[in-house]
Amino acid sequence: MSAFETVIYEKTDEGIAWVTLNRPDSLNAFSVKMRDDLHEVLSAIKADDEVRVTVIKGSGKRAFCAGADLTEFLTAPSVIKARRIRAVRDLWRLFLSMPQPLIAALHGYVLGSGIEIALFCDIRIASNDVIFGLPEVGLGILPGAGGTQTLPRTMGIGGALDMLLTGRRIGGKEALQMGLVTRLVPRKDLLTAAGETAQKIASSDAAAVRNAKQAVIRGVDLPIEQGLDLEWRLAEKTKRSKPKNNY
Ligand code: COA
Repeated sequence: MSAFETVIYEKTDEGIAWVTLNRPDSLNAFSVKMRDDLHEVLSAIKADDEVRVTVIKGSGKRAFCAGADLTEFLTAPSVIKARRIRAVRDLWRLFLSMPQPLIAALHGYVLGSGIEIALFCDIRIASNDVIFGLPEVGLGILPGAGGTQTLPRTMGIGGALDMLLTGRRIGGKEALQMGLVTRLVPRKDLLTAAGETAQKIASSDAAAVRNAKQAVIRGVDLPIEQGLDLEWRLAEKTKRSKPKNNY
């Protein structure tokens, strides 16, 4: 258990970390404080070998996250300060470097930074009340948390440009068709579905899980020959991690 202002962190005996975005009054809008809290929580999870898998969810009934906190837009730091902060506290690269699988449990509004957080997760499960959208371009800015890179890698260039350039919101069925989520469940079943998926992963060999994730995440941007080499090296590493080598 932890006491962050904008995030709740819980860890179960089975090695499942639950991270809850916790600003329900502002639909879990992503603030500077939330960035700092999430950075701290994810850094702790990354360094904790007991954690096998992480689930990220939003508190309240209406949203996973309604995007960047619009009340902070006019108080953004100078470009130089922003760069300095980013160098020491780059939340998005931290997301990308997480060794354990991340599951996003998505409900209600998943907008802007919300969808970008979800895209850094490895498995996206949504409830049928979900609404995805990237309003940034309509607001005269670009997504700043990897969205232009992660969205096309997840759903293809056409679908990504459709969402990015028009700001069009899509519901659960369309998100499922476009590959933005892999599972759609009734609202009441969302946390059960995420929890069961986490349990399944937590019950598998930890090294096999981590190395399989790495093989995919690092391999997807490599030419196939290099990808096959990467897979071979990670498979060998997985074998070597076993107390008795029965291969
Ligand atoms: N930043 C800060 N506060 C936000 C917010 C955001 N991104 N999104 C919602 N809120 C706050 C609202 O200001 C409101 O606060 P209040 O109760 O103190 O007035 C509360 O959350 C509920 O939102 P509200 O707008 O009243 O709900 P709604 O059902 O009418 O509309 C949305 C929901 C998500 C469509 C609407 O809130 C919205 O468009 N939010 C902004 C989305 C966005 O552009 N995000 C930035 C991406 S870069």
